[in-house]
Amino acid sequence: MTRLRPQVRAISPALILEDFIDDEEIGLLKSGKEADVYLVRRRAAARSCLLAAKRYVDPDERAFKSNARYFAHERGDGFVRDGGDRRRAVAGRNTQKAIDQRSRHGRAVIHDRWIDNEWNVLGTLWRAGVNVPYPVERLQDGILMEYVGDEEQAAPRLANARVERAQLRGLFDQLRENLKGFARSGLVHADLSPYNVLLWDELLWIIDVPQAVPYLENLDATEFLHRDVTNMCTWFNRKGLACDAEDLFATLLSEQFDYRMEDRFHAKGLGSTHVRSCPNW
Ligand SMILES: Nc1ncnc2c1ncn2[C@@H]1O[C@H](COP(=O)(O)OP(=O)(O)O)[C@@H](O)[C@H]1O
Ligand SMILES: [Mg+2]
Repeated sequence: MTRLRPQVRAISPALILEDFIDDEEIGLLKSGKEADVYLVRRRAAARSCLLAAKRYVDPDERAFKSNARYFAHERGDGFVRDGGDRRRAVAGRNTQKAIDQRSRHGRAVIHDRWIDNEWNVLGTLWRAGVNVPYPVERLQDGILMEYVGDEEQAAPRLANARVERAQLRGLFDQLRENLKGFARSGLVHADLSPYNVLLWDELLWIIDVPQAVPYLENLDATEFLHRDVTNMCTWFNRKGLACDAEDLFATLLSEQFDYRMEDRFHAKGLGSTHVRSCPNW
């Protein structure tokens, strides 16, 4: 297996990342229970660009009801797998207690975790070649990212997009390649559906990743992966493309497994020459 990890990936030339004058929120793209997404115009001396600012709802007003399973691998008081064979605690005991009791401090910690996770996951996926919006800045209450769409309209969600039957095979191939990118990165989206995929100029964009989990560490990751794949294949099937969710699931599981074995192998400093000379192998 050749490991494809593009180290350098071209950032869209339309994006302004330096020497800008200001950012102005010019409209609300979508308001949700967990977050609102605003359209932002970033101005520089000679040009401007549009960005999307996803701002999470204030932690005092959020329910955080489905938080536990997505962060179970970060519990401070439980045993979790780390790289498959070590055990570690991430949060301190007091922090974990605050989280469990949903105290003010606990809610603020959860709030920050979601944003940090979305920020880190977007960066990891972007570097791995997955078509996600480029993460521009970690805001205090959310994330500023590449905007998908144009001056007239934001990219529709796949669920609401006009899709011709002839496009379906190509879109499914894109989905599979993107999901292989998740596997290379050791991640599972865990909330994938045609509502969290945008379609613009024939390209699929995967969005909304705050709940993404590391495959090896989160004990529910396999179940999340199966649900993700089933959601997407159900949509493709309904649109008229024959695709097999179990088949895609099996492909992605085996990619996760291969890459994770390779990660552990490298983490232990076992280069290929070492393996050949090691009598125990
Ligand atoms: N980068 C983006 N470019 C264009 N539209 C976006 C972008 N990010 C989010 N949106 C729009 O905002 C909606 C909500 O964003 P999402 O990340 O799915 O948050 P949530 O579903 O948690 O509210 C999306 O369905 C999409 O319509
Ligand atoms: Mg969403």
